[in-house]
Amino acid sequence: MNTSQEIQVTPHRGRGVIARYREFLPVSDSTPIVSLGEGGTPLISSPRLSAIVGRGCEVHLKYEGLNPTCSFKDRGMTVAVSKAVEGGTLAVICASTGNTSASAAAYAARAGIRCAVVLPAGKIASGKLLQAFAYGAKVVAIEGNFDDALRIVRRLGARDDFAIVNSINPDRIAGQKTAAFEIVDDLGDAPDLHLLPLGNAGNISAYWAGYREYRDAGNSTRSPAMIGFEAAGAAPMFHGRVVENPETIASAIRIGNPASWETADRAVRDSHGAIDIVTDDEILAAQQWLATQEGIFVEPASAAPIAGLFKCCEPARSPAYSFAQIPEGSRIVCTVTGHGLKDPEVMMDRVMKLTAVAPNEEAVLRAIGF
Ligand code: F0G
Repeated sequence: MNTSQEIQVTPHRGRGVIARYREFLPVSDSTPIVSLGEGGTPLISSPRLSAIVGRGCEVHLKYEGLNPTCSFKDRGMTVAVSKAVEGGTLAVICASTGNTSASAAAYAARAGIRCAVVLPAGKIASGKLLQAFAYGAKVVAIEGNFDDALRIVRRLGARDDFAIVNSINPDRIAGQKTAAFEIVDDLGDAPDLHLLPLGNAGNISAYWAGYREYRDAGNSTRSPAMIGFEAAGAAPMFHGRVVENPETIASAIRIGNPASWETADRAVRDSHGAIDIVTDDEILAAQQWLATQEGIFVEPASAAPIAGLFKCCEPARSPAYSFAQIPEGSRIVCTVTGHGLKDPEVMMDRVMKLTAVAPNEEAVLRAIGF
């Protein structure tokens, strides 16, 4: 178990999730494996978050920004693209708020097949858009939001020439389960609580499936309460109704009608977890806190569970899940889903304030504030 401040470097980095967890995945000897060495991401203990929760609880961060295209999507994409190639598909298609498109584009390039991505115009963080172009995808921007893009992709996917690689493809969910396996392997058992951001609701469904399957296989003795956080302006599951015009700075989770709504609801119910909301200000404050206090720079959506953890610790704010009731010594995992460099816009105003000083020691010392 990792209780100290050192980073746990798993010996599995670079192997790829299919090689490591083959028996849990829908692949056979005839599946051509398309991998970029995804998975094996570090589970980093956070002494500062543990201290904030208190009562001997431990908080660990699953740092998914260290995947090949810098988000958790790669775990599902290796399986989805491998299966698409096995089925003879020559092109994959997806709707995306950015990360799915970056990942699909990379794995399609690796497989030597075509990739089309359908994106809400003007709503994709620049790093993600740049990735889709860099990997050679056909990028189509629509005058609409993510939910409109997914509706179009679902219809196009009914044609024979495309395989959909959104999380409505069960191969994506199968691959994403592997993050739960890794957490159990690193901790020696499942955690008590698992916090993560909620967008299209595929990932929370995948984690829950992974925790259950691993327990059923005898690899753990329990499964955690799943706690998902939506952005306050894009919170269909929290409010129990579709949001027509979702808005949040966390563009990855700007979704008003999640595709995996029902399975996510079931995951939360069956695990005795909860769904809650965090505001954009809370998300940005948590993003900055994590970067400056723990040296982990994540994109805004990934900071939602950190903002959520702070909320869970404050009973006065009536969180949907209050940590005041959790047993002493509980183990808590937060998944931080994507790298901060994907979304430079949210930091740019600070960067732009930088002005040059005279090229001498006095001026530099003055600028440092010494
Ligand atoms: N965090 C990040 C960084 C994401 O990119 C996403 C989803 C989520 C969290 C939420 O995961 O949808 O499974 O509930 N991004 C998708 C995309 C929608 O198109 O890249 P979810």
